[in-house]
Amino acid sequence: MEIRTIGVMGGCGKTGEPEKVERFELKMGDIISIVGPTGCGKTTLINDIELFANRNTPSNRLVLINGEPISDDFTFDPRKHPIALISQHTNFLSDLPVGEFLKIHSKVRGGDNPERLIGETLEFANQLTGEAIIVTTGMTELSGGQTRSLLIADAVIIGNSPIILLDEIENAGIHRTKALELLKQYNKIFVFVTHDPHIALLSDFRIIMRNGSMEKLICTNQEERRVAGNLGKIDNLMLNFRGLIRSGQEISERMMTEQMEILNQTT
Ligand SMILES: Nc1ncnc2c1ncn2[C@@H]1O[C@H](COP(=O)(O)OP(=O)(O)O)[C@@H](O)[C@H]1O
Ligand SMILES: [Mg+2]
Repeated sequence: MEIRTIGVMGGCGKTGEPEKVERFELKMGDIISIVGPTGCGKTTLINDIELFANRNTPSNRLVLINGEPISDDFTFDPRKHPIALISQHTNFLSDLPVGEFLKIHSKVRGGDNPERLIGETLEFANQLTGEAIIVTTGMTELSGGQTRSLLIADAVIIGNSPIILLDEIENAGIHRTKALELLKQYNKIFVFVTHDPHIALLSDFRIIMRNGSMEKLICTNQEERRVAGNLGKIDNLMLNFRGLIRSGQEISERMMTEQMEILNQTT
């Protein structure tokens, strides 16, 4: 089945009241964010999407594919499952070396050129993490940032999933701006659960959650996009200082002035 759109019809929040956002739709190429304080129902919403909820989860939401609900007994061919969820918890991973893990996954997915896919996946992942991933490293020995980077790259390239859900990747030491730049080149649906203002403002729209309920949907306007651009520069400034400190340098006020000048020049 070719997926063109995913629709979410609102159900109810934790106290049973109907959701204010009655429905929203995602089409290929969309990037959206889900925001709100801890415990407000962000993970629950992306889980509903992953499960293609059919009024059969506590939120009573209904997920539509190409405008239609799918029947309860419908299951996807596991080789072509359209949704990849990168969750907050990744401790389920096997102890295989990275290269083996990727090889098995590319076999399951039936890609025609596994070597090329594995190479591309590693290259993609290594652009997201500061610490390059080595193929012979065991999956469980990767750092949090490396694990997330590898899972994102794997979902995009080997899995080639049209819909990718990412639950709070920011805590894991990933180059987020770079991730978004790379992800935008693929015609997929990306749903970010995030506390990161830059990711939220780079999204096409964001859903604000409260008390288990979709409270509000805000489309990013031109002014917010300009603010996003500035936040990206501040992000880069922080990354530059992180690099300087990691490489053992002493920090001076002059460095700060220089960095601020670079930031202002490009505003
Ligand atoms: N619409 C809802 N109806 C019933 N329970 C909900 C709903 N949304 C969230 N919950 C419950 O609230 C708790 C916190 O939700 P969660 O999605 O983990 O929040 P977050 O990811 O924002 O921290 C979970 O136990 C979840 O089952
Ligand atoms: Mg959560």
